[in-house]
Amino acid sequence: MSEMSRRSVFLDEIGLGPLWLRRDGGAGLAGAELIKADVAPAVEIPAVPVPQRVEPMASRVQDNPAVSAWADAEPVSVPQAAVQAGISTAAMDWGQLQKAVAGCTACGLCQGRKNTVFGIGDSKAKWLFIGEGPGRNEDIQGEPFVGPAGKLLDNILLAMGLKRGENAYIANIVKCRPTDGTGRDRPPAADEVAACLPYLQRQIELIQPTVLVALGKTAALSLLGLDPATPVSKLRGSVHRYADRPLVVTYHPAYLLRQLGDKGKVWSDLCLAMSTYANAGE
Ligand code: URA
Repeated sequence: MSEMSRRSVFLDEIGLGPLWLRRDGGAGLAGAELIKADVAPAVEIPAVPVPQRVEPMASRVQDNPAVSAWADAEPVSVPQAAVQAGISTAAMDWGQLQKAVAGCTACGLCQGRKNTVFGIGDSKAKWLFIGEGPGRNEDIQGEPFVGPAGKLLDNILLAMGLKRGENAYIANIVKCRPTDGTGRDRPPAADEVAACLPYLQRQIELIQPTVLVALGKTAALSLLGLDPATPVSKLRGSVHRYADRPLVVTYHPAYLLRQLGDKGKVWSDLCLAMSTYANAGE
């Protein structure tokens, strides 16, 4: 299946298809004659479909004082997190950071891990996607998002004109798999997040991404330093900041697999991320 078709299938799947293209293959829409992608001759579409206008939802949410308050909240400063956790990553290069993560014993999660999961992708990527932490499959393979949620994430990346490993980096808040007493996956605890965050911070400093996308509650709340009771729905639709970079919050792909009806919301969040990226002049 061609990339265009896969993208069209994904947009269709999330209730936003069919993908319409200009008959002459141009990128702009004004005055253009449109044809449906699956009956269209192979014409190029822009790599990243930046919307002319962000979904009205974004401004509606920004107009809501309760949400603006969340959006304005002070992000956790990572040097502060590093001091709390006693890890100094500030001077590490990429290789040193990888080694430090591989041998990390800063919290109890090191005891049960098979592998640390450093992250994957282009270390000079303009896009950084941040999940919660490794699950069972990721712990075994040492790579983030390799299960069904990972497949969905790959499709989402594709719909954005991105690809795992090409201009996108995928990391997690914690690098080791958190499990409960019965060996099942669980979200990381606050002390585990604090111990691990300096690694992600150094990754951000070295990668220098243009836009960060927080996938789900753990990523969003850990980065923004917010109360655990804050729902993701309150953080969507605004551009936050972390480590001096724009941060857009959306639902976790695993949540999306359970709540298929929210796929359109995720696409709307990603449109906000893409317009943020475009406005950053990249
Ligand atoms: N969920 C995450 O948040 N990260 C992974 O790497 C896998 C599943």
